[in-house]
Amino acid sequence: MQTFPGERLEPLLRHQDIQTRVQSLGKRITLDYTGKELLLVGILKGSFVFMADLIRSIDLPLAIDFMAMSSYGAATKSSGVVRILKDLEQGVDGRHVLVVEDVVDTGLTLNYIYGHMRSRGAASVKICSLLDKPSRRQVAVPLHYKGFEIPDEFVVGYGLDVDERYRNLPDVSRLIRE
Ligand code: IMP
Repeated sequence: MQTFPGERLEPLLRHQDIQTRVQSLGKRITLDYTGKELLLVGILKGSFVFMADLIRSIDLPLAIDFMAMSSYGAATKSSGVVRILKDLEQGVDGRHVLVVEDVVDTGLTLNYIYGHMRSRGAASVKICSLLDKPSRRQVAVPLHYKGFEIPDEFVVGYGLDVDERYRNLPDVSRLIRE
């Protein structure tokens, strides 16, 4: 993979290991929601690759929707400010909502979304994140389904970006700036 000048990537999670983990998350979700209809809400843009694989590993009737929140922008540190950039197209009232995120870092984004979904009258709200960086948490969020716990390092690939770059990579890699 061609990297951008001054940047180097070090693989952290290989595509095949990610696939195996996503399959097992899908099986657990299928069991937990048997007999129910799910609404999966992906948080754009980082979750779109994970979401695409996850829904194909869930054997239930389901619908999907997306929300976009304000992101880090060019910086790799959280501003602490969360804002809705794109809202849901479907109502959540009385529905079983599973929020799908790429990574939980400070927890500020998911904390906001979790409260927001509950206040809109969802029958249940759970959270599924591919990655968890627990050492950076500022607010506690219930993480019901988790792919991998990772150290406090900035990662890209499998949907995750830095300045919109590297989302297309199949692995999750550490971004090293030289
Ligand atoms: P939180 O509100 O601090 O938990 O931020 C979560 C959001 O920050 C994620 O949805 C990502 O968009 C972004 N983010 C956090 N850590 C990383 C990372 O290592 N790589 C890419 N994006 C990240």
